[in-house]
Amino acid sequence: MESQPIIVVDKATKIFQSERGPVHALNDFDMVVHTGEFVSLVGPSGCGKSTLLWAMAALWPLSAGSIKINGEEVTGPRREVGMVFQSANLLPWRNLMKNIYFPLEIMGERPRRYQDRIDNLLEMTALTGFEHHYPGELSGGMQQRASIVRALSYDPQVLLMDEPFGALDAFTRDEMNVMLLNIWEAAQKTIVFVTHQIPEAVYLSDRVYVMTPRPGRNLKEYKIDLPRPRPLSITTESRFFEIVGDIKNTIYQGVQKATEEGAYEIEQFAHE
Ligand SMILES: Nc1ncnc2c1ncn2[C@@H]1O[C@H](COP(=O)(O)OP(=O)(O)OP(=O)(O)O)[C@@H](O)[C@H]1O
Ligand SMILES: [Mg+2]
Repeated sequence: MESQPIIVVDKATKIFQSERGPVHALNDFDMVVHTGEFVSLVGPSGCGKSTLLWAMAALWPLSAGSIKINGEEVTGPRREVGMVFQSANLLPWRNLMKNIYFPLEIMGERPRRYQDRIDNLLEMTALTGFEHHYPGELSGGMQQRASIVRALSYDPQVLLMDEPFGALDAFTRDEMNVMLLNIWEAAQKTIVFVTHQIPEAVYLSDRVYVMTPRPGRNLKEYKIDLPRPRPLSITTESRFFEIVGDIKNTIYQGVQKATEEGAYEIEQFAHE
């Protein structure tokens, strides 16, 4: 599956200028993602995961370093990149199908050209039949599935996902993870996924990047050698627990080291 890199993050650094002074969110972060890979970013809350993902989507610029996609430096929004956020952000006055059309309309495309593709995605996400429902008539899981269809409607090569299932209950989250792997395998996308849930990252990913507490740096990279396809039952196997435990320990050690150095307040650490 591995081929040439589609994403190259080189010494990504971000310092926000806020009213309370500068916030050093990300420091010299390196990452290489190959075409078709599923890569996750994990680390303590506030370590710069969203900051990096947003920079990859050109939602804000880096302070230093660079991000290249398909060999070109990211300087503005790119058609080959789709983004899914923690909240589905559907427009309440548009029905599901019209919400899916929205980015296409913004890009000046005729949505009907993409109808077959959209219908296929709706089927894969079990949303067929809900096309005329408004967001208020859909469950949280359905809204989030709709936002995935919206991001994939124009067939981006790369899908960036920032805690897309964070607001869902554990059972729905499992279902979403299975669905996401099905889509990833069928559509052959490259996915960069941010999560607080280490088991989720391990279940989904080919590789997991662990970040230090803020400012986020590279702490460790894990290759997840679990076989594919991955049934949910793999999450009850001892090898799975071993990897999850190993990654959690790495994160704890990173937090401990930063705390000893006085650079970090322990209460910031996320529950997982
Ligand atoms: N627009 C902004 N202005 C100032 N500081 C910001 C801004 N956005 C983020 N930060 C700060 O940058 C740091 C990194 O934030 P970021 O949202 O990237 O963390 P994260 O790893 O995604 O955390 P979480 O897991 O809680 O979502 C935090 O200290 C945050 O307060
Ligand atoms: Mg975040």
